[in-house]
Amino acid sequence: MNTPSLLILAGDGIGPEVMGEVKRIITWYGDKRDMEFDVSEDLVGGAAYDAHGTPLTDETMAKAQEVDAVLLGAVGGPAYDDLDFSVKPERGLLRLRKEMDLFSNLRPAQCFDALADFSSLKQDIVAGLDIMIVRELTSGSYFGEPRGIFDLPNGEREGINTQRYTTSEIRRVARSAFELARKRGNKVCSMEKANVMESGILWREEVTWVHENEYPDVELSHMYADNGAMQLVRWPKQFDVIVTDNLFGDILSDCAAMLTGSLGMLPSASLGLPMENGRPKAMYEPVHGSAPDITGQGKANPIACILSFAMALRYSFNDGAEADRLEKAVEKVLADGARTADLLGPEGGSPISTTEMGDAILAALDASL
Ligand code: IPM
Ligand code: MG
Repeated sequence: MNTPSLLILAGDGIGPEVMGEVKRIITWYGDKRDMEFDVSEDLVGGAAYDAHGTPLTDETMAKAQEVDAVLLGAVGGPAYDDLDFSVKPERGLLRLRKEMDLFSNLRPAQCFDALADFSSLKQDIVAGLDIMIVRELTSGSYFGEPRGIFDLPNGEREGINTQRYTTSEIRRVARSAFELARKRGNKVCSMEKANVMESGILWREEVTWVHENEYPDVELSHMYADNGAMQLVRWPKQFDVIVTDNLFGDILSDCAAMLTGSLGMLPSASLGLPMENGRPKAMYEPVHGSAPDITGQGKANPIACILSFAMALRYSFNDGAEADRLEKAVEKVLADGARTADLLGPEGGSPISTTEMGDAILAALDASL
């Protein structure tokens, strides 16, 4: 196979800072593991808007379609709050997801032992937690038509978004959840609001169809999404894989992320259909946002972005052993007490910088050889 290609879109806020550490990890793999990547970089979000007046140019979109994987940092920031909706930084991210057809968004929430004390929940509730949220990413209320803000004859205005799902959209994301479950705890919980939404009724019926016809060996349960949110904080370890729609997935994954102690820890993979070379269309990004409050201060935790690269090794480059190596290196530095500011518990302590966290992880990688 040719040298695998990566497109880095560091984006806004802390995106470039955390991505800087990922670039060092990529270089390490080239130097020490003989794994070369063909890396290119481009702009997305506010950075692209500043340079080109659009949060994602057609050229960048075309590049993203061609590479083996896109690594994204973060988009958005207060400087762009008043922009027209159509050119907001987030539109760049949503265009990538939609045009690459990245329908399956994997958001693992794993609690590292060393951090179990930092969760806002009691230690025994989160220690050893390892769940995977599979969020549908290319449909539902994020993209449904009609949408917009309309003037009504009586002088009022009306804001409209449409929640819609088709059979095939539900079935394909359900399949990816069942496939993942088979490699994990073999359980899927599907979340929707079938009690109040027709799209939720269809969701439940289609997930059940896929289960009965293709994955009867996997344990399936259904839950209303509001109850799901409550169960996530009550007893999260009851879950293995959760599959849900775009909007509920957005909310539930932030909730699950916080169980692990910090949003600075959570990676994600967004996967689509296989390309000609057999690899899935893919984009990897940390779940945290651009964190404008700490931008440029060297304080950001690069772990979510680094673990996103580990997911790239696992899901795009089929190298579970190297993904394990990188995840273990992260686990090791946390066990040794390395803490960026977001990881300091109530007792405080002195945090290390973004670069120092990168240094520690590189040292742990060296030690793993
Ligand atoms: C996420 C983010 C995005 C979303 C924003 C930045 C558009 O919150 O990836 O969870 O709502 O999907
Ligand atoms: Mg979100």
